[in-house]
Amino acid sequence: MEPIDEPLSGGGRYGEAVFPPGQAGEGERIDFGALAYDDITMARLRALGVGPGWRCLDVGAGTGTVSRSLLAAGVASVLAVDRDVRFLGARTVPGLDVREADITAPDFLSGRFRLVHARFVLMHLPERDRLITALAALVEPGGVLVLSDAVDLTGDRTPETPYSRVMRAMWQGLRATIGTDVSRVPSYPHLLRAAGLGPVAAEIHVPPLLPGSPISRFWADTWERSRAAMLGTGLVDDTAVDEAVRYLGSEECAALSAGMLTAWGWKPENGRGLDNGRGPENGRGAEGGAR
Ligand SMILES: C[S@@+](CC[C@H](N)C(=O)[O-])C[C@H]1O[C@@H](n2cnc3c(N)ncnc32)[C@H](O)[C@@H]1O
Repeated sequence: MEPIDEPLSGGGRYGEAVFPPGQAGEGERIDFGALAYDDITMARLRALGVGPGWRCLDVGAGTGTVSRSLLAAGVASVLAVDRDVRFLGARTVPGLDVREADITAPDFLSGRFRLVHARFVLMHLPERDRLITALAALVEPGGVLVLSDAVDLTGDRTPETPYSRVMRAMWQGLRATIGTDVSRVPSYPHLLRAAGLGPVAAEIHVPPLLPGSPISRFWADTWERSRAAMLGTGLVDDTAVDEAVRYLGSEECAALSAGMLTAWGWKPENGRGLDNGRGPENGRGAEGGAR
């Protein structure tokens, strides 16, 4: 039976009770995540063929690091959409268009793009299946939808450490307050296929948790900002969160970060079915990029 895709929170939303963009340092928190993942994201986008001539849409663009890197890679244009564009407006570059919009609103955008990209956005939003279908509709024939979100790599047999206790409380607390749900992220290839895209593929990158690294600083800051949500689960108290922040910044840390799963799916050319009747080898470049 397919899992039911419905809101899990008490009605809170990303950017309200948790991660409000107006809170001091929120842009820097997003940038720490970007520092940990931008090279991986851009390597994948380049391998898919993204480059000169491409019209791109970056959904939930945050501080715009991927949008600007796309332009540096020579794409024709990037439309960066976010529910709050204060960080995007502060760092504009030629070719970057910024639009304030809520992607959960029906018909939030019209137009077609060769690349539609969304990183660390859909995991925070309800109605994932509908949103993936809506984003797929914005991809032009022959173009690609690329989705990246977090995968939780802790499990029943993960050793009990200050890190694992707090990570468990963080996912549970975010789910209860704003509806963040990473449990369906491994289903993205299937969801892309269900949205009419193909071929599809996916990969996971796990950045090493080294003291002072961007990903370690990202988690420490994320825990501070979601502390109330974590305490609300009853799984941790303030002392446990403080201990986890100290542990993460120390040589003692022996843990696996959440990973970033990137899944992509190609929009069939007009009049052709999924896979265009061709395999990736004869229809696209070695990595699936359009020739
Ligand atoms: C964790 S940040 C990720 C930013 C960027 N994509 C990155 O990976 O660096 C999530 C972003 O999604 C935006 N966002 C959240 N809900 C949204 C919605 N309903 N519509 C548009 N943007 C949204 C937030 O404002 C925030 O900028």
